[in-house]
Amino acid sequence: MKGLFISAEGPEGAGKTTIIQMLVEHLRQENQKVVYTREPGGIKIAEEIRSIILNPENTEMDGRTEALLYAAARRQHLVEKVLPAIEEGYIVLCDRFLDSSLAYQGFARGLGVQEVLSINQFAIDSLMPTKTIYFDIEPEEGFKRIQQNKDREINRLDLEELEFHHKVRDGYQLVMAKEPERFLKINAAQPIEDVFSDTLRQVQSIIDEHVKSTSV
Ligand code: TMP
Repeated sequence: MKGLFISAEGPEGAGKTTIIQMLVEHLRQENQKVVYTREPGGIKIAEEIRSIILNPENTEMDGRTEALLYAAARRQHLVEKVLPAIEEGYIVLCDRFLDSSLAYQGFARGLGVQEVLSINQFAIDSLMPTKTIYFDIEPEEGFKRIQQNKDREINRLDLEELEFHHKVRDGYQLVMAKEPERFLKINAAQPIEDVFSDTLRQVQSIIDEHVKSTSV
């Protein structure tokens, strides 16, 4: 059986990284073959690109350069890590993917969702996640959480005004409306245990569906 590709998306401070890591832990205990990875990053070249993009000192970075660097990191990560893992039958849980570029660069930066999609089509060569879990939270609430989490790195995009992060959330709504069947929406403003149990339930049903469809 081939593996599964699931991405996690959402605005800053939605807690998706914590939840996805809890989920990986849980699935491993059930002896599922699962890989956690993130964008931008997950492998050496993409982590190096990440540090250029997110360095708070790189204030002169042009919006299109930013979009192209995310797409370049995405390409390398896909080829080097995601595709081989899917081929080997792993469930790949990816912390952010293409929808982040559409919401952040395409919509919030104003580069155009269609334009950013075009450069990314070259990068992903039609490979999309089977399902995407969207962790929804109001930007004000997300920011409160970021300020309470002292271990979290502050990156260049965190320094954007609240208005930018409202646009990110609007961008996600737009992208989800175009492909409602791919997205599973989670209310990330709930207490962490409830966010986790909702996410687990959703992911379990994706896995069950996948097992059913590949065993007939
Ligand atoms: P993280 O904080 O979730 O690790 O993500 C790093 C930052 O990069 C976050 O502010 C969202 C942003 N980002 C984009 O703007 N476009 C993208 O394509 C990706 C993957 C992330």
